Amino acid sequence: MGNKPSSQTRRQRTNYYGGMFLYDENEIDRVQIQHHFARESYNGNFSSPVKDVLRTGGATVLDVGCGAATFLCEMAADYPRTHYFGVDLLPTCPNTLPHNVKFLQRDVLKGLPFADNTFDFVYVRFLVLDLTEYEWEKVIKECTRVLKPNGWIEMMEPKFAMSNQGPTTERVMSAIQARARARSVDPLIVDKLGGFLTSMKCLRQVNTEMREVPCGSWGGKKGQLGAMFIRDVVKKHLRFIDSILNIRQSEYDNVLNNFTQEIELHRSYFEFYRYFAQKH
Ligand SMILES: C[S@@+](CC[C@H](N)C(=O)[O-])C[C@H]1O[C@@H](n2cnc3c(N)ncnc32)[C@H](O)[C@@H]1O
Repeated sequence: MGNKPSSQTRRQRTNYYGGMFLYDENEIDRVQIQHHFARESYNGNFSSPVKDVLRTGGATVLDVGCGAATFLCEMAADYPRTHYFGVDLLPTCPNTLPHNVKFLQRDVLKGLPFADNTFDFVYVRFLVLDLTEYEWEKVIKECTRVLKPNGWIEMMEPKFAMSNQGPTTERVMSAIQARARARSVDPLIVDKLGGFLTSMKCLRQVNTEMREVPCGSWGGKKGQLGAMFIRDVVKKHLRFIDSILNIRQSEYDNVLNNFTQEIELHRSYFEFYRYFAQKH
């Protein structure tokens, strides 16, 4: 079990990037790429067997740490008879949302503002760099509390480690991992998420799916999206890891170009996981 964060850490809580999303156009692009990458990696937005219940009408879906609600907005178009709720620590959502999508600004670690057994489907994606191990367990318990019996919880997270790394890739990925660990965040937490679900007595049928994500045109369309995703992650991180890498801002483009060439040349890839389970 991870360490409990100090009250000081909790008081200062903001998201991983220390600020809000969607304050510039690049960020909007990044969020869209992230969403397309997630969906295309698995040829669909989710793996849980919830299509029938979503089609029926009157079902409810919750996205925890929903960011710009890209997942929810697409789900609202695909399954318009369902009601969607997104929760995020920060006001990350666009002002205009589909009529059946509601956004609430809340810290999930302080508890979700919903009664027990409310949702048919609870979804969590890309919180890997935001939560410590202790916080993951807390979030999973809270998500499970608000899940209806027979409802499904699904989590989708990458492992922040690459295979077939070139020298720049290795330096950059090690620096991202070091920064995460300095905040008590485990960049390889995906290896433990299935175990957390299995340890919850109220959950059954814990499923694990994994895709190796190619990064580069050598991996076809998925490889191009994988490269865009990981490149954007690195680009966004550079200002947080420049002291670890011992580089100045004027060198960011150079590092990014080397990274992009290397992942192509070395055929780098990373693992991307989905875990899903049903409540008794
Ligand atoms: C990398 S973004 C992913 C957003 C979205 N899930 C997606 O797939 O596009 C992580 C989001 O989690 C939110 N977040 C982090 N800690 C949170 C917390 N304790 N409670 C609610 N949201 C949180 C952040 O503000 C951020 O919007």
